[in-house]
Amino acid sequence: MSPLELGNPELLKNCSFINGEWLQGESQFKVINPANSQVVAAVDEVSPTQLEMAIQTASKALLEWQEKTVDERASLLSKWFELIMTNQSDLAYIMTAEQGKPRKEALGEVAYGAKYIEWYAEEARRINGDVLPVNQNGRRALVLRRPVGVVTSITPWNFPGAMILRKAAPALAAGCTFVVKPSEQTPLSALALAYLANEAGIPAGVFSVIVGSNAQPIGEVLTTHPKVAKFSFTGSTAVGKKLLAQCASTVKKTSMELGGNAPLMVFDDADIDVAVNGTMGSKFRNAGQTCVCANRIFVHSKIHDEFVQKLKSRVMELKVGEGNQEGVSVGPLIEEKAVAKVERLIASAINSGARLELGGRRDPAGELFFQPTILTGITPQMDIFNSEIFGPVAAIIPFENEEEVINLANQTEYGLCSYAFTSNMNRVFRLSEKLDFGMVGINEGVLSNPAAPFGGVKESGMGREGGRWGIDDYLENKYVCIGNLD
Ligand code: SIN
Repeated sequence: MSPLELGNPELLKNCSFINGEWLQGESQFKVINPANSQVVAAVDEVSPTQLEMAIQTASKALLEWQEKTVDERASLLSKWFELIMTNQSDLAYIMTAEQGKPRKEALGEVAYGAKYIEWYAEEARRINGDVLPVNQNGRRALVLRRPVGVVTSITPWNFPGAMILRKAAPALAAGCTFVVKPSEQTPLSALALAYLANEAGIPAGVFSVIVGSNAQPIGEVLTTHPKVAKFSFTGSTAVGKKLLAQCASTVKKTSMELGGNAPLMVFDDADIDVAVNGTMGSKFRNAGQTCVCANRIFVHSKIHDEFVQKLKSRVMELKVGEGNQEGVSVGPLIEEKAVAKVERLIASAINSGARLELGGRRDPAGELFFQPTILTGITPQMDIFNSEIFGPVAAIIPFENEEEVINLANQTEYGLCSYAFTSNMNRVFRLSEKLDFGMVGINEGVLSNPAAPFGGVKESGMGREGGRWGIDDYLENKYVCIGNLD
């Protein structure tokens, strides 16, 4: 096992954190570094009894947490934020070891996730109700904003820290308690966050992390337990649909941040350097493993060749390798299945007439590394057009006019994020209104912002994370009618 050399070794935990305690298990699973296939840590499996305890204690902790004043909740969240930032370097080191992302991105993710806590510590102070007009004299009508209750969650491996904090921060700010099961591939970042939550003084049972390799039975409990009021998931659409169906049995509130098939459009009036820059950020961040990565890159035929040449020279500068090495900008994919999928999509596109401009193979850096790749001549009939690639492959499609490209962009069951590069302000508004996506980036390839509503439409899910919309998802509007007043 490769020991992680951390400034603060306490951050490395290897079992579930439930009701303020670290609970050992009877068996273990291994966390593997995708860059070198070495074991980073062996982690204890949560037992069914411990899982039940996590939910029961989250339910017990609700009252005490809700009764804290907003100032008390906000100051505990602020303390958690500060501790995360103080430990940013170690947290990023853990993240790179279990997930593979380059150190610069890992540092960025820690800060990005922490920002949600800082933001919602402030937003907790603005959970205002309403006083309504009434339809009879002697009545008063109020709307109270009440926490939904116990929230459970399952989070993915591609953002091992930020996806947890993006949910936990508004949940805790609203007065909910929170139990999260991180991906079995990346549990260590979650456990380190739990350690810091405890250090910050967040009371027992308010934030628990359960770790286990058998996602199915754990997911079943998290989505069906009668004490759970809300379930929040980030992951694939296929898994999200199953979990959503399970939530129906007890009519839980849900937030689902699911898959995407983001179009990125470059119009002939765009600043090509800005468009290339935006494409680099959107496509190659996290080795192409984000739900909002540009998946289909539409380029107007007039500027197609110039764009491809410029993109090629930027892609050739990318350095593939182990995330902690100096200058590395593309880490490994998460597992063999992911690499095989990318290979299959490229081969099938080439067989159907696509042209390989760059890359296209596994990288010599190691088993799970893939060369940043550019394909041109992609058509809507190809698998790569219709699948979420989740790898460092830019798939380029030429187009002729705005109406055609909007139709092509919307030709997907997904609706998470879309991007367009143009200098025409009239077009900016037309695109913002006509693109069937929860998010639209104009002349920008990375939109992440704790103040903004992140989320999708169609089969990309429901609910929003971030901003005032993010906290709404953890609050109920309770109508109180007081009658027979003098
Ligand atoms: C995601 O892939 O779901 C998260 C990406 C981001 O927050 O930018």
